[in-house]
Parts: sequence; structure tokens; C-alpha cells
Amino acid sequence: MSNKSLDIIHDEHRALAAMLSGLRGLVASIEAGRLKPDFELMASMIEYIEMVPEKVHHPKEDSYLFARLRERSAEALPIIERLEAEHREGDARMATLRAALEAYRREGESGLAGFQGALKTYIEHEWQHMNTEEHLIFPLARKHLSAEDWAHIDAAFLANDNPWQGPAGKYAALFTRIVNTAPAPVGLGGG
Ligand SMILES: [Fe+2]
Ligand SMILES: [Fe+2]
Repeated sequence: MSNKSLDIIHDEHRALAAMLSGLRGLVASIEAGRLKPDFELMASMIEYIEMVPEKVHHPKEDSYLFARLRERSAEALPIIERLEAEHREGDARMATLRAALEAYRREGESGLAGFQGALKTYIEHEWQHMNTEEHLIFPLARKHLSAEDWAHIDAAFLANDNPWQGPAGKYAALFTRIVNTAPAPVGLGGG
């Protein structure tokens, strides 16, 4: 059964996964010598990951979906608490990733492995987090939330400014810049 809020969360997860695998692919091409590092591009991809999922997506999960589900399902409670703790650690994890990119920019080629390692850690964490939401939280939400709960959650999700656009199209502009600069298959730019 289709569900507006869960569909939105799922779509946002796919968009984040696409940005993360784009960045990972870019770094793999640099390592293989097919591309020269474009630090501005990598920094803007990290900025996008920070602005959209970290600042918009996770707060929306906490405030609406998790807030209702924690009142309805004792089984969901420990999972929600773990996911919320992971949301709170988001800033620190982003800072680690940004610092690794800065070290790479400063040190040149010898910094690549460090950045690649930090990116791998970040991506694995995000995958595990999104899988927990989709495989454990979604079914519990479908089972335990009432029609009235969903009306409340859907209203909040749909009333939001499209988070992937952001205020005044800020994130859309950032996304367009990334897509136009990044080489295929990340974007439309030349490799
Ligand atoms: Fe989350
Ligand atoms: Fe999520």
C-alpha cells in the first residue's frame, strides 16, 4: 500500500544514495588516474549531503514519523532511539568527512587514501542507517500508526517546502551545479 510520507522518505534516501555513489565513483576515477581531483566539486557534493539529508531529512523523521511511532510501538522504541542518536552524531560525522577532504587538498596525492577511507566509513554508516529505517521502521509504522497519525504526518511532510529544492531553490541550484560539473555517470560534465 502506498504511503505518501514513507514514499517521500524512500525517494530522499535514493537521492542521497545517488549522491554518495557519485562521489565514491568520482574518487575511484581519481585513484585510477582517469580524473584529476576537482576539490571544489567534491566540496560541493559534501555540502549538498550536509544541507539536505542532515539538515532537512533527519529532522523531519524525528519530528513527525518517529515522534508518533514512539507513542504507538514499544517494539519500535529502542530502534528509534538508536536512529535518533545517529541523527545527533550527523554533524560530527560530516565534520570528519570535510576534514578528510581538507587534508587531501592540503597533502595532495598522499591524502587520497585517508579521504577514501573516511568516505567509505560515512557511506557504510548511511547505508546501514537507511536500511534500518526502511526494513525495521517502515513495517512497524505501517502496522501501528492509525489513519489519523498518517494524516498528521503526511500533512507535515507535504506542507514542507520541497526539501530537495530548499529555500529559494538553494539546494536545487547546488544540485544543478554538481550535475553540470561532475563527469558522467555522476553528471553531464566532460570527464
Ligand atoms: Fe534517518
Ligand atoms: Fe532517513
